[in-house]
Amino acid sequence: MTAKGEQLFALALVVVCFLVGVVCFAAFAPEQPEEPVRLMLKSTAGKILFDHKTHASEEGYGVACDECHHETQDETMSCNGEDCHGPDSDPTRSDALHTRCRGCHEDGGVGPVECTACHVMS
Ligand code: HEC
Ligand code: HEC
Ligand code: HEC
Repeated sequence: MTAKGEQLFALALVVVCFLVGVVCFAAFAPEQPEEPVRLMLKSTAGKILFDHKTHASEEGYGVACDECHHETQDETMSCNGEDCHGPDSDPTRSDALHTRCRGCHEDGGVGPVECTACHVMS
């Protein structure tokens, strides 16, 4: 390679690295907390083991994020925020989750609807 060729090559390399960096930053920017794999939800009626990953993934039950999370909820994805389903909210957190979780299982004829099928652990 000529000296000029080498310079051009070096320049091209810098440009490519820069572009790769920009794309990676945009693609993997940490906008929200990482998706949980499994959650142990607590209630006065016992714990509920919720397989978040299987519900939300294409290979699993393929439920879209916004079937459970509100579209405006994308920062923390927690259901407990100030304007959300806290203990004094209407509906309460438990009612909201019962409607959402049990509702889909019932409507779709899949997944547990019996109390003890979800509330398995005390
Ligand atoms: C079947 C219902 C359901 C689906 C579908 C779902 N989630 Fe969740 N997700 C939940 C529940 C319930 C929680 C627990 C929230 C809480 O405890 O306040 C949760 C928690 C989370 C959390 C952790 C929040 C925290 O407090 O740390 C993240 C992040 C999250 N979900 C992202 C996603 C993304 C992204 C998708 C779509 C790919 C998705 N969820 C799909 C029900 C669901
Ligand atoms: C939009 C539909 C939908 C929603 C919403 C949903 N589920 Fe499910 N759930 C399913 C399907 C589909 C299955 C798989 C049933 C099967 O394979 O027999 C399932 C299965 C389950 C099971 C059985 C164990 C397992 O993972 O296969 C549990 C427990 C469960 N869901 C809990 C929950 C909880 C808790 C929520 C709310 C946070 C929830 N689900 C919300 C569709 C849903
Ligand atoms: C699809 C799963 C599912 C089924 C079926 C289900 N529950 Fe729940 N239940 C939940 C979830 C999720 C919560 C909320 C946990 C949390 O706050 O993280 C909850 C919360 C509760 C609470 C706590 C209420 C409070 O305010 O502390 C009680 C009591 C309860 N359920 C009773 C029942 C009874 C009785 C049945 C049957 C008629 C039932 N559940 C069926 C998932 C389920």
